Amino acid sequence: MSFLTDSPITSWIGNPSAPFDSSAQNPVKGSKLEGIIKPIKIGNVQLPNNLVLAPMAGVTDGSFRQLCARLGAGYSVSELASCKALQMRSFQTIEMIKFDGNTGPYAVQIFGADPDLMAEAASFVESLKICDIIDINMGCPVSKVVKTGAGSALMKTPDLAANIIKSVSKAVSLPVTCKFRSGWTENSINVKEFAHAVIEAGAKAITVHARTRQAMYTGPANWKYLEGIKEISGSIPFIANGDICSEENVIELYERTGCDGFMIGRGCVGKPWLYAQLLGHTELLQENLRFPIFKHHLTDMLMEHGSTAVPLFRVHLFGYLKNHPHSASLRRSLCMERNPNVVLQAGKDFFDRANPIDREA
Ligand SMILES: Cc1cc2nc3c(=O)[nH]c(=O)nc-3n(C[C@H](O)[C@H](O)[C@H](O)COP(=O)(O)O)c2cc1C
Repeated sequence: MSFLTDSPITSWIGNPSAPFDSSAQNPVKGSKLEGIIKPIKIGNVQLPNNLVLAPMAGVTDGSFRQLCARLGAGYSVSELASCKALQMRSFQTIEMIKFDGNTGPYAVQIFGADPDLMAEAASFVESLKICDIIDINMGCPVSKVVKTGAGSALMKTPDLAANIIKSVSKAVSLPVTCKFRSGWTENSINVKEFAHAVIEAGAKAITVHARTRQAMYTGPANWKYLEGIKEISGSIPFIANGDICSEENVIELYERTGCDGFMIGRGCVGKPWLYAQLLGHTELLQENLRFPIFKHHLTDMLMEHGSTAVPLFRVHLFGYLKNHPHSASLRRSLCMERNPNVVLQAGKDFFDRANPIDREA
């Protein structure tokens, strides 16, 4: 398949052990988003570009982080890891955050509500030498997390949030950042005060998800709450998050907020080439690369997770097949499937159709 080797930027496809080629992370001169997509620095860590893969528990494992980096994502963040689990040196948690591949800049995200425990967990993570940045989760809406005072519950206790940043920053030499929401509910929007508090405490970058805890993950992100944050963050990078799925979204958000970076979550599930599209790497957008990318992703997950790979791949599979004309019946027939060959064939049938429905590049 000559198209895979035509350009060094695509030569890794189908060869998961190929060395990481960072050239796909360089913004393309003359592309539509030139000047908006650009390198930024978090503390002393240089990011090749400001497109960030959002942390997503159950989605952004090592395989997906590496895939997105190979397709251009300039920075990625691990799934959230409990500081208590890290304190107990949980094998499963260490497996989840560790990364043998190379993706360029990578942050491990930890959560908890006790500043001392968080500091200890962060210091342990730093000792593993697996990441460039420590990110603190201040946005998780899940009850199990919130009832311990962690995740988005910290939006109600900005002093505690600030103490966590101070305590963790003292314990590690890596830059410490945090990710939070616009507020707890629509009636208690406090994103600006919160941004002030964590920046004053020493956060080296902030990411703001433009939803409240009350909204969980549903309903449109409310970008109006991101306006005015850049004025508060000053020289500290402010990364916008929520419903970023297209060039138009990036342009609108940039014009409205002046944000320094763009974190993409669900928009790249089933469409990891979105990063290449935003950067202007057209070589990675050829239709005939879609199935090889899908196959590469599944193969990588089989190597990472063994027998549990196929169930774990399901969220991606349904993302890839989203525009399938029979997507509902396909979902039903594949939702219990554990055979990788059947899943592979479903992907092949979909991507190989002579006239694919418009999946926009
Ligand atoms: C399945 C799933 C898991 C998530 N896990 C995390 C997580 O571990 N840490 C975190 O900070 N945010 C997590 N998020 C939130 C995302 O990082 C992001 O803020 C959110 O999805 C909004 O971005 P989007 O509209 O681009 O998807 C998760 C979201 C989803 C959908």
